[in-house]
Amino acid sequence: MSDSRNWFAPVAAARKRSFAASRRHGIMLEVDGRQLINFAANDYLGLCEHAEVKQAAVDCIRRRGVGSGASRLVSGDDPGMHALERQLADWKGYESCLIVGSGMLANMGLLQALADRHTHIFADRLNHASLLDGVRLSGAVQHRFAHRDDAGLQELLERHASDRRIIVSDGVFSMDGDCADVSRLITLAEAHDTLLLIDDAHGIGTAGDGRGLVGLAGMGGHPRLIEVGTFGKAFGGYGAFILGSGELIEGLRQRQRSMMYSTALPAAVIAAATAALKLIQSGELIHRLQKNITHFRRQAEALPLLDSHTAIQAMLIGEDQAALAAASCLRDAGFFVPAIRPPTVPEGTARLRITLSAAHDEDQIDRLCAALTEIR
Ligand SMILES: Cc1ncc(COP(=O)(O)O)c(C=O)c1O
Repeated sequence: MSDSRNWFAPVAAARKRSFAASRRHGIMLEVDGRQLINFAANDYLGLCEHAEVKQAAVDCIRRRGVGSGASRLVSGDDPGMHALERQLADWKGYESCLIVGSGMLANMGLLQALADRHTHIFADRLNHASLLDGVRLSGAVQHRFAHRDDAGLQELLERHASDRRIIVSDGVFSMDGDCADVSRLITLAEAHDTLLLIDDAHGIGTAGDGRGLVGLAGMGGHPRLIEVGTFGKAFGGYGAFILGSGELIEGLRQRQRSMMYSTALPAAVIAAATAALKLIQSGELIHRLQKNITHFRRQAEALPLLDSHTAIQAMLIGEDQAALAAASCLRDAGFFVPAIRPPTVPEGTARLRITLSAAHDEDQIDRLCAALTEIR
């Protein structure tokens, strides 16, 4: 008998996830009435609570209200969205840009619109779930290569010829914090006549001058390249954007279902992202974040960290229960650091995922490193 209470019984038995209600106050997180230093947010520059970003949103809500009321296709297409799309495209060196509801919706909708069962997609094994789900939704044939394995990718490209092929990779990888070699991927895309999709959700606003890994490689606007960024991480807000050629973006305007059939982002969210972009471009917060990353790596030299020079730092633990116990010890010591377990990461690689922000100070980082050393 179909009974909603039984439907998820196997899932419930297999793994229990908890959703701890938490309230942010700057860099502190209140969980179960306790104030913890937050090393879990993707708000890498502290823009979520920046006075200018909040003011931009509040002013806009006063003028325009809370919601957009409809999809962009109907009546939700705010002029502020067009202005921000132009700014993002110019900053990143692309012809055009499309703002959508979130990074998840961007990747799923983009791949669904772009690919079909005649398309071959070559995907890094550690790509974000939204890219994986986008490939599934498109019906394309997927070939996965070992993480950052250029030789493996090349072999797959040589083996699977087709005139519609796309290489798909995270920029900064969300759970390991390491980086795709964008220049090398573009070289492969050129040599094998494919498109290249880089999702730099964690790199834009944090890497280089803020233009992320593609900016660092000097490749913004390359005709084979499509790039995705989000407002939910370094921008401190919510939403996402897709960058590419004018023709590609116009095609997505006509075809991307996750944008066409979903309520547009509110004008206040766009106003906040516009204010955040200005702060990112000023460079000061990125400089502070990069100083914190360098300081953390120096202080944590003796810890079993994955090799990363980004704001995402992972300490490998292995077993799920051990990772949960480590996170719990850190909580007792006053830090909020999540234990990340399968299926988010491969079996046997449960870890503590530490995210650094420009809003941390050196003392907070030193105390976290001391606590990590202790629990080790
Ligand atoms: C690489 C990557 N892409 C996309 C997303 C989804 O972005 P959003 O949170 O805006 O839906 C995430 C979120 O964690 C991510 O890590």
